[in-house]
Amino acid sequence: MRSALLLLLLLAVCAASHAAIFREAPQFFNSPDCPSLPDDLEKRNEKGQHHCFNHAVHVAMTLDTAYIRGSMAAVLSVLQHSSCPQSVIFHFVYSASANASSLHATVSHSFPYLKFQLYPFDDEAASRLISTSIRSALDCPLNYARSYLANLLPTCVARVVYLDSDLILVDDIAKLAAHPLGGESVLAAPEYCNANFTAYFTPSFWSNPSLSLTFANRKACYFNTGVMVIDLDRWRAGDYTTKIEEWMELHKRIRIYELGSLPPFLLVFGGRISPVDHRWNQHGLGGDNIRGLCRDLHPGPVSLLHWSGKGKPWARLDANRPCPLDALWAPYDLLQTPFSIDS
Ligand SMILES: *[C@@H]1O[C@H](CO)[C@@H](O)[C@H](O)[C@H]1NC(C)=O
Ligand SMILES: *[C@@H]1O[C@H](CO)[C@@H](O)[C@H](O)[C@H]1NC(C)=O
Repeated sequence: MRSALLLLLLLAVCAASHAAIFREAPQFFNSPDCPSLPDDLEKRNEKGQHHCFNHAVHVAMTLDTAYIRGSMAAVLSVLQHSSCPQSVIFHFVYSASANASSLHATVSHSFPYLKFQLYPFDDEAASRLISTSIRSALDCPLNYARSYLANLLPTCVARVVYLDSDLILVDDIAKLAAHPLGGESVLAAPEYCNANFTAYFTPSFWSNPSLSLTFANRKACYFNTGVMVIDLDRWRAGDYTTKIEEWMELHKRIRIYELGSLPPFLLVFGGRISPVDHRWNQHGLGGDNIRGLCRDLHPGPVSLLHWSGKGKPWARLDANRPCPLDALWAPYDLLQTPFSIDS
């Protein structure tokens, strides 16, 4: 009973949005030196079949009504900065309780030439493992879909770039997708070794000898799970989904961390990832998780801007209270103005 109520509450928070109408994006073409596409790819695309061809860049994102404006902007940014945009294949995970045909129609209306596939995600199964955190949006079951990509995507997809919906790329995603996964690494992502790792877990975690030993002999650093290159073959072989679920189950019994879907990734992969240059996740642009203050870029080059944190650029632009960097997001916004919806 209690968990049914929690699920209803989560679904209400997670799906709170209005129907929106998006513009059509321009068509993007491969440059001459891109690897050639299979002859029957367009046909396969029409039939909605999986696109298991070599040289494709596979991108996984979630799609829901609350963040769809961000997702559409992210897709546009990927295509626009890609030298081989026709070789990028999108895998969208949506809540099984959402209207799939409506999501499909929205994506194909804006991107008629996009190669993409939709995958339903069982929210109810995920919500049973979720404990509430400090920010309710972090508790949306779909936030946990990134832990299930290896099960959701077809086995011919060996590597995927996972992207959050509140970001834009300003560089070629193929460079990120090709990042080497050295040794036995399952993930590649930018690491932040100056962040206070201790703070992500509770005192009861650190004071429990067997739990705190989790990080013994590892140089674990914080990483953000909004941008990750995932070796799905290694993930499947190591059954990392189960390892993440085990930590979530433990967390339901003893509170061991503060944030939502991130800490289980730190527990399983911290100190074992391939570090990616920081340019690929200029995160925190949404401000802190409590107040949504404006943030500046970290020093250094920028390939990806990420509005992680409470404030989202579309909401601040709509409210006429944008942060300075929100102007970099605005050109990718595909939302029709309310005026053109009415006319
Ligand atoms: C789902 O969306 C489609 C297309 O937008 C619409 O025709 C249909 O009525 C919707 N179904 C439900 C159950 O809302
Ligand atoms: C790191 O965080 C912990 C727990 O919040 C705190 O006790 C500790 O003083 C912090 N360390 C540094 C160097 O800030």
